Amino acid sequence: MTDTREDLIAAAREAAARAYAPYSGFHVGAALLLKNGDVVTGANVENASYGLTLCAETTAVAKIANEGWIGELAEVAIVGGRPDGGALLGSDPVNPCGRCRQILNEAAERSKVDILVHCASGDGTAVKSYRLSELLPAAFGPKDLGMIE
Ligand code: THU
Repeated sequence: MTDTREDLIAAAREAAARAYAPYSGFHVGAALLLKNGDVVTGANVENASYGLTLCAETTAVAKIANEGWIGELAEVAIVGGRPDGGALLGSDPVNPCGRCRQILNEAAERSKVDILVHCASGDGTAVKSYRLSELLPAAFGPKDLGMIE
């Protein structure tokens, strides 16, 4: 259970420690807050065939979809940076890539929430929060296929 932006960022930071990112050396964690207060996390999973890399947000959304919770999303936090011992370096907030914005939109539309996305820097000094509609305006999603009343 969690109830603050800081808790959600802390969960994303813990997830980043489980990234498999030997090629970029850039560890990203995503934490999805569900409507019932539960938190589901994901981290990036890279591949020797670089283009097959899965981003942290994508692995986290896949987890909730597979559990039947795609319509339960409330809020998201993302943290990324280069590991340095147990810490993450980097003072700029990590923004979700374009593909991840679209993947988050699937869950957000299904959840009927214009979710807040908290983007945090690795070193924890900077956080910027956005509505998903700011990050992905005029989105194409399930509503365009008549899937949402
Ligand atoms: N990455 C994410 O996990 N999420 C994003 O939204 C941006 C990028 C990962 C992919 C790759 O493993 C590493 O960050 C460097 O691009």
